[in-house]
Amino acid sequence: MFRLKDGNILNQNQCFETGDIYLDPCLNMITAPSSDFEDIDCEGLYVTPGFTDIHIHGAFGFDVSDLRSEDIVLMAKKLPFKGVTSFLPTLMSLPPEKIRKAASAVSEAASVLEEESGPYASILGLRLEGPFLSGKRAGVQSRDCLITPKEGTDLTEDLVSRYPGLIKIIDIAPETEGAMELTKRLSDLGIVMSAGHTECDYSEALSFFENGGRSVTHMFNAMKLLGKREPNLPGAAFDRSAFAELICDGLHVDKTVVRMAFKMFGDKIITISDSMRAAGLGDGEYDLGGNMVTVRGARTYFGEDNVLAGSVTDISSEIVNLISWGIGIEDAITSVTKAPNELLRKPAPSLAPGSQADICIMDKEGRLKMVICKGHILKV
Ligand SMILES: [Fe+2]
Repeated sequence: MFRLKDGNILNQNQCFETGDIYLDPCLNMITAPSSDFEDIDCEGLYVTPGFTDIHIHGAFGFDVSDLRSEDIVLMAKKLPFKGVTSFLPTLMSLPPEKIRKAASAVSEAASVLEEESGPYASILGLRLEGPFLSGKRAGVQSRDCLITPKEGTDLTEDLVSRYPGLIKIIDIAPETEGAMELTKRLSDLGIVMSAGHTECDYSEALSFFENGGRSVTHMFNAMKLLGKREPNLPGAAFDRSAFAELICDGLHVDKTVVRMAFKMFGDKIITISDSMRAAGLGDGEYDLGGNMVTVRGARTYFGEDNVLAGSVTDISSEIVNLISWGIGIEDAITSVTKAPNELLRKPAPSLAPGSQADICIMDKEGRLKMVICKGHILKV
């Protein structure tokens, strides 16, 4: 038994208060106070539930789009060292047979991890970033693999019946043929539909939300932006109080725009990594969904125009960025704990007795000092 002593503990209202947490590593559970424990001094530190990353293609050399369950398992075992204790493996746009194979690989990886006794980030399901995206806003997604939602109806019906409950989020361009019908159908089945890689205008975006759409994929990237007379997707998302993902690596969205987004969307902001396999490695050339991306420092470069592709960041670094940009630590943490889980209609992760022992401990700048994952103490 351990006692995390005198930490600033995140409470149910997403506020910090000084106190202690008891945890039983054998039970992998936060418990009621006990008399037999070893102290871990957390004075001056911030204690929060483990982070959730709902948009992550890869890291540490692994990528979900390689369709190998063993790689997804290895990724899950490394993510806790960045504070991530649950994640949504995210597929790039691929041909239908590869999407089916990805569903099989992710379910197999989740089953393998359930038997695991060591620390690992829980797999929440599978996210499909495409193939129902706009060719005009595809970014690094392979245009050859894009199909319309109308063309993809059989594929989604097949996936839903063969892998019930596995697919958690599908990204879609609302202006593509059949997008409204598919959004309604899949939303009714409990799949979160997120608008992204899109040319949609305000009215198309409003229809998307009216048909059950709940979120915006990497807000401000790969979409028409907010104009003074053209509110487009960002404006419709604001009007409909949708969830809004943000990549907070300081490159995809300027820090002032991040501050504005937090004011606009409040506790509906979800900080995501959108990281690719190069995250956690170094400079070089890396494959991302069949396209080669160059990494130099913290930036990715793709194509003749050297556009930004995926990121090489991680949630923990983004928390440090957010705090340094003036976002309150409560809001920064909400964006990687409560908000992503609410989007998936799951309870907010909690530090209350009875909760799973997935915990992050950081200093006031957000720098991770210790992670407890499935009851295991990790030095980071
Ligand atoms: Fe994307």
